Amino acid sequence: MILLDGKATAAAIKAQIAAEVEQMVASGRKRPHLTAILVGEDGASKTYVANKEKACAAAGFTSEVVRMPADTTEERLLQEVARLNADPDVDGFIVQLPLPGHINESRVIEAIDPRKDVDGFHPENVGRMVLGLDSFVSATPYGIVALLDHYGIETKGKHCVVLGRSNIVGRPIANLLSQKAQPGDCTVTICHSRTKDIASYTREADIIIAALGVPEFLKGDMVKDGVVVVDVGITRVADSSEKGYHLVGDVAFDEVAPKSSYITPVPGGVGPMTIVSLLKNTLKAASKLLSY
Ligand code: GUN
Repeated sequence: MILLDGKATAAAIKAQIAAEVEQMVASGRKRPHLTAILVGEDGASKTYVANKEKACAAAGFTSEVVRMPADTTEERLLQEVARLNADPDVDGFIVQLPLPGHINESRVIEAIDPRKDVDGFHPENVGRMVLGLDSFVSATPYGIVALLDHYGIETKGKHCVVLGRSNIVGRPIANLLSQKAQPGDCTVTICHSRTKDIASYTREADIIIAALGVPEFLKGDMVKDGVVVVDVGITRVADSSEKGYHLVGDVAFDEVAPKSSYITPVPGGVGPMTIVSLLKNTLKAASKLLSY
């Protein structure tokens, strides 16, 4: 069993990005700038945004967090999106999800300029990604593909089972891995909460991407020997530690790891790859490398 070390892989990519940024600055260009809008007080969202800020600083980017109260109206949030769309100093920005229930997430995402949509959530970017055209690819699927690539994992002709059909992870990763590409060229099955007998699919899988958000859903008796397992789950489970919680993935690691050829840990697997992929997208936005 080989651990897919997202922390070390992301650190190596971050160092490359930082070197590129210093070259940009040396040639008289400004540092890439990422802005995050954070609405409300969700604990996990605050942590993610703080980690994104830290990663920006480590890569030599400038960043800013726009904090808005939980009772912010949709109109007020849309005004802020319009302001960032028009600000030439902002290369890319994200609206941290989930948003409070009274705000229509789709309406907000559709208001973002696709050329600044470094989360890759805008329908234009999703559509372009599905068609295999140049786009911003959302950070978690992009990070998973980069991790598989970094470890030279053969995906061609493999059966990949994706657990979960979210817009952010399940659907885009299923699409990317089915594309004619390396990593890619997989035969992909998407399983979700209404799938009957999920284990009958996972037992046939060469690669499993677990993105259901159900702690330790994937058990040892649900996988075959030699499987490659990517665990996207990061549920906070309360405990008596100082932090008050620990992170639990969608995979029962102790049972599944001994049967796996490669497996991601939680934490330290997909999470750091997601953040570094956001940096890659922001660098691409700042470099005006997008071809549309
Ligand atoms: N919430 C959970 N993951 C993400 C992400 O990648 N981007 C944003 N904006 N919100 C999220």
